[in-house]
Amino acid sequence: MRLVSRSPGETRRAARILARRLAGGEILSLVGDLAAGKTVFVQGLAEGLDIRERITSPTFVIHRFHEGRLTLDHIDAYRLAGPEDIEAIGAWEFLGAAGRVAAIEWGDRVEPMLDRFYRIRIEPAGPETRTLSLETIGGDVPPAFIEALAEIAAGHP
Ligand SMILES: Nc1ncnc2c1ncn2[C@@H]1O[C@H](COP(=O)(O)OP(=O)(O)OP(=O)(O)O)[C@@H](O)[C@H]1O
Ligand SMILES: [Mg+2]
Repeated sequence: MRLVSRSPGETRRAARILARRLAGGEILSLVGDLAAGKTVFVQGLAEGLDIRERITSPTFVIHRFHEGRLTLDHIDAYRLAGPEDIEAIGAWEFLGAAGRVAAIEWGDRVEPMLDRFYRIRIEPAGPETRTLSLETIGGDVPPAFIEALAEIAAGHP
């Protein structure tokens, strides 16, 4: 499933709408180069989960969490030496846990350790244009995702 975003605000909005439909236990792998918009997407997820705290790139911290309607675990896998390192940050305690949503920047680096997740790939298609593609890995596309995409396309706030 693909979407085109024409501004950071549109990327945040798409993520916000998606976040409102998350039930907890989801793992989102965010894939895209430097400055693709992964953190912008996580900011939108936070908005959709009613998180007030500011979301910044956690690069030096690897893992931060924020309380909202669901707890958002924000992970940056950029500095992990290998996929196994995800274990060293205690990830098995929270990845996939009820009442939590994980968003992993540079998620492709840890995907080999995950058996069920969503991949959101963000690719630049112009200075302010990004192609967002959503895939489900290891499971079916949940109806909530299809509903979210319909809502995004329909121009809801
Ligand atoms: N359509 C768009 N969606 C998202 N970001 C956009 C868009 N157009 C321009 N941008 C800009 O691209 C940059 C994205 O930065 P962001 O920190 O989200 O990238 P990132 O993928 O998290 O990078 P890093 O790998 O360094 O963590 C921001 O400066 C943002 O304003
Ligand atoms: Mg980032």
